[in-house]
Amino acid sequence: MAIKDPFGRAVENIRVSVTQRCNFSCIYCHREGQTPNYGVEMSAGEIERIVRLAASLGVDSVKLTGGEPLLRSDIIDITRGISSISGVKDVSMTTNGFLLTQYAEQLKEAGLSRVNVSLVSLKPERFRFITGINAHKNVIDGIIRAVEVGLNPVKANVVLLKNVNDDEVGELIDFAGSHSIVLQIIELEKFGNEIFYDQYHADLSSLEKELEGKASKIIVRRMQHRKKYILDNGAEVEVVKPMHNTEFCLHCNRIRLTSDGRLKPCLFRNDNLVDLLEPMRRGVSDEYLKNLFIEAVMRRKPYFI
Ligand code: 5AD
Ligand code: SF4
Repeated sequence: MAIKDPFGRAVENIRVSVTQRCNFSCIYCHREGQTPNYGVEMSAGEIERIVRLAASLGVDSVKLTGGEPLLRSDIIDITRGISSISGVKDVSMTTNGFLLTQYAEQLKEAGLSRVNVSLVSLKPERFRFITGINAHKNVIDGIIRAVEVGLNPVKANVVLLKNVNDDEVGELIDFAGSHSIVLQIIELEKFGNEIFYDQYHADLSSLEKELEGKASKIIVRRMQHRKKYILDNGAEVEVVKPMHNTEFCLHCNRIRLTSDGRLKPCLFRNDNLVDLLEPMRRGVSDEYLKNLFIEAVMRRKPYFI
Protein backbone atom coordinates (compact mmCIF):
# COMPACT_ATOMS: atom_id res chain seq x y z
CA MET A 1 0.00 0.00 0.00
CA ALA A 2 1.42 3.32 -1.06
CA ILE A 3 2.16 6.08 1.44
CA LYS A 4 -0.59 8.71 1.71
CA ASP A 5 -0.28 12.46 2.13
CA PRO A 6 -2.30 14.41 4.74
CA PHE A 7 -5.12 14.71 2.18
CA GLY A 8 -5.42 10.97 1.72
CA ARG A 9 -3.85 10.92 -1.70
CA ALA A 10 -1.66 7.86 -2.22
CA VAL A 11 1.73 8.62 -3.77
CA GLU A 12 2.15 5.93 -6.39
CA ASN A 13 4.14 7.68 -9.01
CA ILE A 14 7.45 9.53 -9.13
CA ARG A 15 8.61 11.77 -11.97
CA VAL A 16 12.36 11.86 -12.01
CA SER A 17 14.07 14.63 -13.95
CA VAL A 18 17.47 13.20 -14.83
CA THR A 19 18.82 16.37 -16.42
CA GLN A 20 17.75 19.89 -17.20
CA ARG A 21 19.79 19.94 -20.37
CA CYS A 22 17.88 19.88 -23.64
CA ASN A 23 18.96 20.14 -27.27
CA PHE A 24 15.59 21.68 -28.23
CA SER A 25 14.32 25.06 -27.14
CA CYS A 26 10.57 24.75 -27.51
CA ILE A 27 8.83 28.11 -27.43
CA TYR A 28 6.31 26.84 -24.86
CA CYS A 29 8.58 24.79 -22.61
CA HIS A 30 7.59 24.92 -18.93
CA ARG A 31 10.74 23.09 -17.83
CA GLU A 32 8.68 20.77 -15.61
CA GLY A 33 8.24 23.59 -13.11
CA GLN A 34 11.93 23.53 -12.16
CA THR A 35 13.97 26.62 -11.49
CA PRO A 36 17.10 26.44 -13.64
CA ASN A 37 20.09 24.73 -12.06
CA TYR A 38 22.26 23.33 -14.82
CA GLY A 39 25.27 22.61 -12.64
CA VAL A 40 24.36 19.72 -10.39
CA GLU A 41 22.95 16.39 -11.58
CA MET A 42 22.33 13.27 -9.53
CA SER A 43 24.49 10.31 -10.48
CA ALA A 44 22.89 7.08 -11.73
CA GLY A 45 23.56 5.48 -8.33
CA GLU A 46 21.97 8.38 -6.47
CA ILE A 47 18.86 8.23 -8.65
CA GLU A 48 18.58 4.50 -8.08
CA ARG A 49 18.97 4.90 -4.31
CA ILE A 50 16.16 7.46 -4.14
CA VAL A 51 13.83 5.39 -6.32
CA ARG A 52 14.54 2.30 -4.21
CA LEU A 53 13.53 4.29 -1.16
CA ALA A 54 10.38 5.51 -2.90
CA ALA A 55 9.54 1.92 -3.87
CA SER A 56 9.92 0.83 -0.24
CA LEU A 57 7.16 3.36 0.55
CA GLY A 58 4.85 1.96 -2.12
CA VAL A 59 5.70 4.06 -5.18
CA ASP A 60 5.46 1.60 -8.08
CA SER A 61 5.59 3.73 -11.18
CA VAL A 62 8.51 5.85 -12.39
CA LYS A 63 8.61 8.36 -15.22
CA LEU A 64 11.99 9.60 -16.42
CA THR A 65 11.86 13.17 -17.68
CA GLY A 66 14.19 16.08 -18.37
CA GLY A 67 15.12 18.34 -19.95
CA GLU A 68 15.87 15.61 -22.42
CA PRO A 69 16.66 12.34 -20.61
CA LEU A 70 18.44 10.77 -23.61
CA LEU A 71 21.16 13.42 -23.38
CA ARG A 72 22.52 11.56 -20.35
CA SER A 73 25.21 9.20 -21.52
CA ASP A 74 24.31 6.81 -18.69
CA ILE A 75 20.57 6.74 -19.43
CA ILE A 76 20.60 3.00 -20.17
CA ASP A 77 22.25 2.26 -16.80
CA ILE A 78 19.74 4.52 -15.06
CA THR A 79 16.83 2.74 -16.77
CA ARG A 80 18.21 -0.70 -15.99
CA GLY A 81 18.93 0.20 -12.37
CA ILE A 82 15.43 1.52 -11.77
CA SER A 83 13.55 -1.22 -13.56
CA SER A 84 15.32 -3.91 -11.54
CA ILE A 85 14.17 -2.45 -8.20
CA SER A 86 11.67 -4.75 -6.53
CA GLY A 87 8.28 -3.05 -6.29
CA VAL A 88 8.78 -0.93 -9.41
CA LYS A 89 6.19 -2.14 -11.90
CA ASP A 90 6.28 0.51 -14.58
CA VAL A 91 9.17 2.59 -15.93
CA SER A 92 8.38 5.07 -18.68
CA MET A 93 10.04 8.09 -20.23
CA THR A 94 9.13 11.41 -21.77
CA THR A 95 11.57 12.34 -24.52
CA ASN A 96 11.81 14.78 -27.39
CA GLY A 97 12.59 11.77 -29.60
CA PHE A 98 15.74 13.19 -31.17
CA LEU A 99 17.93 10.27 -30.09
CA LEU A 100 15.21 7.63 -29.94
CA THR A 101 16.13 5.78 -33.13
CA GLN A 102 19.52 5.17 -31.61
CA TYR A 103 18.33 4.25 -28.10
CA ALA A 104 14.91 2.59 -28.45
CA GLU A 105 16.13 -0.99 -28.55
CA GLN A 106 18.58 -0.62 -25.64
CA LEU A 107 15.91 1.14 -23.59
CA LYS A 108 13.48 -1.68 -24.15
CA GLU A 109 16.12 -4.23 -23.24
CA ALA A 110 16.98 -2.24 -20.08
CA GLY A 111 13.38 -2.51 -18.89
CA LEU A 112 11.64 0.61 -20.14
CA SER A 113 8.03 -0.31 -20.77
CA ARG A 114 6.65 2.63 -22.71
CA VAL A 115 7.52 6.06 -23.99
CA ASN A 116 5.97 9.49 -24.55
CA VAL A 117 7.47 11.46 -27.40
CA SER A 118 6.90 15.18 -27.85
CA LEU A 119 5.84 15.58 -31.44
CA VAL A 120 5.34 19.26 -32.10
CA SER A 121 4.33 19.08 -35.74
CA LEU A 122 4.36 16.75 -38.75
CA LYS A 123 5.63 19.61 -40.91
CA PRO A 124 9.38 20.37 -41.04
CA GLU A 125 9.15 24.19 -41.07
CA ARG A 126 6.70 24.28 -38.19
CA PHE A 127 8.78 21.77 -36.28
CA ARG A 128 11.76 24.05 -36.61
CA PHE A 129 9.79 27.13 -35.66
CA ILE A 130 8.58 25.52 -32.42
CA THR A 131 11.72 23.68 -31.32
CA GLY A 132 14.47 25.80 -32.88
CA ILE A 133 15.99 22.70 -34.47
CA ASN A 134 15.67 20.86 -37.78
CA ALA A 135 14.81 17.47 -36.39
CA HIS A 136 11.38 16.61 -37.66
CA LYS A 137 12.59 13.46 -39.41
CA ASN A 138 14.68 12.20 -36.46
CA VAL A 139 11.64 12.42 -34.21
CA ILE A 140 9.24 10.70 -36.58
CA ASP A 141 11.79 7.94 -37.23
CA GLY A 142 12.29 7.66 -33.47
CA ILE A 143 8.57 7.18 -32.90
CA ILE A 144 8.40 4.47 -35.55
CA ARG A 145 11.46 2.73 -34.08
CA ALA A 146 9.94 2.83 -30.60
CA VAL A 147 6.82 1.09 -31.91
CA GLU A 148 8.96 -1.53 -33.68
CA VAL A 149 10.91 -2.48 -30.56
CA GLY A 150 7.73 -2.80 -28.52
CA LEU A 151 7.81 0.21 -26.22
CA ASN A 152 4.09 -0.11 -25.83
CA PRO A 153 2.19 2.14 -25.91
CA VAL A 154 4.12 4.84 -27.72
CA LYS A 155 2.36 8.10 -27.09
CA ALA A 156 2.91 11.21 -29.18
CA ASN A 157 2.41 14.39 -27.14
CA VAL A 158 1.33 17.33 -29.23
CA VAL A 159 0.90 20.75 -27.61
CA LEU A 160 -1.65 22.48 -29.81
CA LEU A 161 -0.75 26.10 -30.60
CA LYS A 162 -3.17 28.55 -32.14
CA ASN A 163 -2.33 29.42 -35.75
CA VAL A 164 0.80 27.25 -35.63
CA ASN A 165 -0.19 23.58 -35.63
CA ASP A 166 -3.88 23.62 -34.68
CA ASP A 167 -4.89 22.65 -38.22
CA GLU A 168 -2.96 19.37 -38.04
CA VAL A 169 -5.29 17.32 -35.87
CA GLY A 170 -6.71 15.33 -38.82
CA GLU A 171 -3.26 14.44 -40.13
CA LEU A 172 -2.06 13.57 -36.65
CA ILE A 173 -4.99 11.21 -36.21
CA ASP A 174 -4.12 9.53 -39.52
CA PHE A 175 -0.50 9.26 -38.41
CA ALA A 176 -1.50 7.76 -35.06
CA GLY A 177 -3.85 5.26 -36.68
CA SER A 178 -1.37 4.05 -39.26
CA HIS A 179 1.50 3.63 -36.77
CA SER A 180 -0.50 2.30 -33.80
CA ILE A 181 0.47 5.09 -31.46
CA VAL A 182 -1.64 6.95 -28.93
CA LEU A 183 -2.08 10.62 -29.70
CA GLN A 184 -2.12 13.01 -26.75
CA ILE A 185 -3.31 16.44 -27.71
CA ILE A 186 -2.24 18.85 -24.99
CA GLU A 187 -3.69 22.26 -24.21
CA LEU A 188 -1.01 24.89 -23.64
CA GLU A 189 -0.22 25.47 -19.97
CA LYS A 190 0.27 29.03 -18.79
CA PHE A 191 3.68 29.42 -17.22
CA GLY A 192 4.27 33.09 -16.62
CA ASN A 193 4.27 34.91 -19.95
CA GLU A 194 0.71 36.20 -20.51
CA ILE A 195 1.36 37.69 -23.95
CA PHE A 196 2.77 34.41 -25.21
CA TYR A 197 -0.16 32.52 -23.76
CA ASP A 198 -2.75 34.84 -25.30
CA GLN A 199 -1.08 34.58 -28.67
CA TYR A 200 -0.78 30.79 -28.80
CA HIS A 201 -3.36 29.31 -26.48
CA ALA A 202 -5.91 27.16 -28.31
CA ASP A 203 -8.95 26.10 -26.33
CA LEU A 204 -9.56 22.39 -26.82
CA SER A 205 -13.24 22.25 -25.82
CA SER A 206 -14.49 22.29 -29.40
CA LEU A 207 -12.02 19.57 -30.37
CA GLU A 208 -13.31 17.45 -27.49
CA LYS A 209 -16.88 17.89 -28.74
CA GLU A 210 -15.83 16.96 -32.24
CA LEU A 211 -14.05 13.81 -31.03
CA GLU A 212 -17.01 12.92 -28.89
CA GLY A 213 -19.17 12.90 -32.02
CA LYS A 214 -16.68 10.97 -34.13
CA ALA A 215 -15.44 8.36 -31.67
CA SER A 216 -16.56 4.77 -31.99
CA LYS A 217 -15.76 4.27 -28.29
CA ILE A 218 -14.92 6.54 -25.33
CA ILE A 219 -12.93 5.34 -22.32
CA VAL A 220 -12.75 7.45 -19.14
CA ARG A 221 -9.53 7.24 -17.14
CA ARG A 222 -9.49 7.61 -13.39
CA MET A 223 -6.61 10.08 -13.14
CA GLN A 224 -7.89 13.58 -13.98
CA HIS A 225 -10.96 11.91 -15.47
CA ARG A 226 -9.23 12.13 -18.82
CA LYS A 227 -11.09 10.67 -21.76
CA LYS A 228 -9.67 8.44 -24.44
CA TYR A 229 -11.41 8.47 -27.81
CA ILE A 230 -11.12 5.45 -30.07
CA LEU A 231 -11.63 6.48 -33.68
CA ASP A 232 -12.70 4.48 -36.70
CA ASN A 233 -9.15 4.20 -38.09
CA GLY A 234 -8.05 2.57 -34.81
CA ALA A 235 -6.33 5.71 -33.52
CA GLU A 236 -6.53 6.37 -29.78
CA VAL A 237 -6.72 10.04 -28.92
CA GLU A 238 -6.48 11.69 -25.51
CA VAL A 239 -7.10 15.36 -24.84
CA VAL A 240 -5.03 16.76 -21.99
CA LYS A 241 -6.60 19.85 -20.43
CA PRO A 242 -4.58 22.28 -18.32
CA MET A 243 -3.53 20.98 -14.95
CA HIS A 244 -4.60 24.19 -13.26
CA ASN A 245 -7.71 22.76 -11.71
CA THR A 246 -9.23 21.22 -8.63
CA GLU A 247 -9.83 17.90 -10.33
CA PHE A 248 -6.14 17.57 -11.23
CA CYS A 249 -5.05 18.25 -7.65
CA LEU A 250 -7.69 15.97 -6.18
CA HIS A 251 -6.40 12.97 -8.14
CA CYS A 252 -2.70 13.83 -8.13
CA ASN A 253 -0.72 10.74 -7.13
CA ARG A 254 2.74 11.89 -8.09
CA ILE A 255 5.77 13.42 -6.53
CA ARG A 256 8.65 14.92 -8.49
CA LEU A 257 12.38 14.61 -8.10
CA THR A 258 14.41 17.43 -9.61
CA SER A 259 17.61 16.71 -11.51
CA ASP A 260 19.59 18.25 -8.64
CA GLY A 261 18.09 15.81 -6.17
CA ARG A 262 15.26 17.64 -4.46
CA LEU A 263 11.79 16.23 -3.90
CA LYS A 264 9.12 18.58 -5.22
CA PRO A 265 5.78 17.94 -3.49
CA CYS A 266 3.81 20.11 -5.94
CA LEU A 267 4.27 21.02 -9.60
CA PHE A 268 3.10 24.56 -8.95
CA ARG A 269 5.27 25.41 -5.94
CA ASN A 270 8.94 26.06 -5.57
CA ASP A 271 8.98 26.95 -1.89
CA ASN A 272 8.61 23.55 -0.25
CA LEU A 273 11.21 21.29 -1.83
CA VAL A 274 13.11 18.73 0.25
CA ASP A 275 16.78 18.30 -0.62
CA LEU A 276 17.97 14.69 -0.63
CA LEU A 277 21.21 15.10 -2.55
CA GLU A 278 23.11 17.19 -0.02
CA PRO A 279 22.43 14.82 2.90
CA MET A 280 23.10 11.83 0.64
CA ARG A 281 26.49 13.25 -0.27
CA ARG A 282 27.14 13.84 3.43
CA GLY A 283 26.71 10.11 3.93
CA VAL A 284 23.39 9.82 5.81
CA SER A 285 21.67 6.47 6.34
CA ASP A 286 18.74 5.05 4.36
CA GLU A 287 16.58 5.53 7.43
CA TYR A 288 17.44 9.25 7.51
CA LEU A 289 16.66 9.62 3.80
CA LYS A 290 13.40 7.75 4.21
CA ASN A 291 12.30 10.26 6.84
CA LEU A 292 13.12 13.09 4.44
CA PHE A 293 11.00 11.38 1.78
CA ILE A 294 8.11 11.07 4.22
CA GLU A 295 8.58 14.76 5.14
CA ALA A 296 8.18 15.66 1.44
CA VAL A 297 5.01 13.57 1.17
CA MET A 298 3.63 15.28 4.27
CA ARG A 299 4.21 18.65 2.60
CA ARG A 300 1.85 17.70 -0.23
CA LYS A 301 -1.24 19.85 -0.33
CA PRO A 302 -3.74 20.41 -3.18
CA TYR A 303 -2.79 23.72 -4.82
CA PHE A 304 -6.17 24.27 -6.46
CA ILE A 305 -8.99 23.56 -4.03
N1 5AD B 1 2.07 23.45 -21.97
C1 5AD B 1 1.70 22.17 -22.19
N2 5AD B 1 2.57 21.17 -22.31
C2 5AD B 1 3.88 21.45 -22.22
N3 5AD B 1 4.98 20.65 -22.30
C3 5AD B 1 6.06 21.42 -22.14
N4 5AD B 1 5.71 22.71 -21.94
C4 5AD B 1 4.36 22.76 -21.99
C5 5AD B 1 3.38 23.78 -21.86
N5 5AD B 1 3.71 25.06 -21.63
C6 5AD B 1 4.88 19.22 -22.54
C7 5AD B 1 5.50 18.79 -23.84
C8 5AD B 1 6.25 17.57 -23.49
C9 5AD B 1 6.13 17.38 -22.03
C10 5AD B 1 7.44 17.13 -21.38
O1 5AD B 1 5.58 18.57 -21.51
O2 5AD B 1 4.56 18.39 -24.77
O3 5AD B 1 5.71 16.44 -24.13
FE1 SF4 C 1 11.29 21.62 -23.17
FE2 SF4 C 1 10.82 19.11 -23.93
FE3 SF4 C 1 11.02 21.05 -25.76
FE4 SF4 C 1 13.19 20.22 -24.46
S1 SF4 C 1 11.95 19.05 -25.89
S2 SF4 C 1 12.64 22.35 -24.85
S3 SF4 C 1 12.34 19.82 -22.41
S4 SF4 C 1 9.44 20.85 -24.17
